[in-house]
Amino acid sequence: MLEKIQETAQWIKAHTALTPRTAIVLGTGLGRLAAEIEVVDAFPYSEIPNFPVSTVEGHHGRLLFGRLGGKEVMALEGRFHFYEGYSMKEVTFPVRVMYELGIKTLFVSNAAGGMNPAFEIGDIMLITDHINFMPEHPLHGPNFPTGPRFPDMSEAYDHELLGMARTIAKEKNIRTVEGVYVATQGPTFETPAEYKMYRILGGDAVGMSTVPEVIVAHHCGIRTFGISIITDLGVEGKIVEVSHEEVQKAANAVQPLMAEIFREMVKRID
Ligand code: HPA
Repeated sequence: MLEKIQETAQWIKAHTALTPRTAIVLGTGLGRLAAEIEVVDAFPYSEIPNFPVSTVEGHHGRLLFGRLGGKEVMALEGRFHFYEGYSMKEVTFPVRVMYELGIKTLFVSNAAGGMNPAFEIGDIMLITDHINFMPEHPLHGPNFPTGPRFPDMSEAYDHELLGMARTIAKEKNIRTVEGVYVATQGPTFETPAEYKMYRILGGDAVGMSTVPEVIVAHHCGIRTFGISIITDLGVEGKIVEVSHEEVQKAANAVQPLMAEIFREMVKRID
């Protein structure tokens, strides 16, 4: 595994002159942030040695190197989901490669169902914490030398970055909410009873991604910031039929605001 990770990192280093310290993972319907990136090099996943290939509609499957807010960034346009059949090692492979490339800060985004009754469709939720309901753990197996066997998770989402996001949202008059992201394996959306259960357990939003990447990034000492776009509501009395298309559409509409927060944060990170 380590050999494959290093081989992929070497290949990337040989194919781009950029040496970003910040990486971004673009979730469902959020790929357009890529348009904000001044792209220097773009690699379809199929060209990158050992990289899994994304299969979901709305995920382009390219690794981008370029500039955002004047800073060098690396962006994953399309992620790998457990429900597609990938192992957790495959889902988190790109994060392992990021570590080898010297990434220090990771921005993640996703589309999620809102369970907090105060949330509205189109809300931007700053992720303050998570609950991992995925059936397999990304750190299962022999420990990687990037971090301890039993990693601390008391601050999985970096408080300084959260503070920065709050400041920027206030400055730019962007409505944000905050909350706990629950990660499920998917691919089904939740039944009303499941939304209710996740709410009772302490969740504000639920989705099918992000947590594996955040856990591995944390294990690698990469600080993380995450945004969930609330694309549908799992709130009693407000639950309606939900489709992938609607999720994409709702995410699409808020992209510019999320992009603004990400861009400004990247600009301010040293
Ligand atoms: N549940 C799980 N995943 C999701 C949802 C949801 O309601 N909305 C977008 N992704």
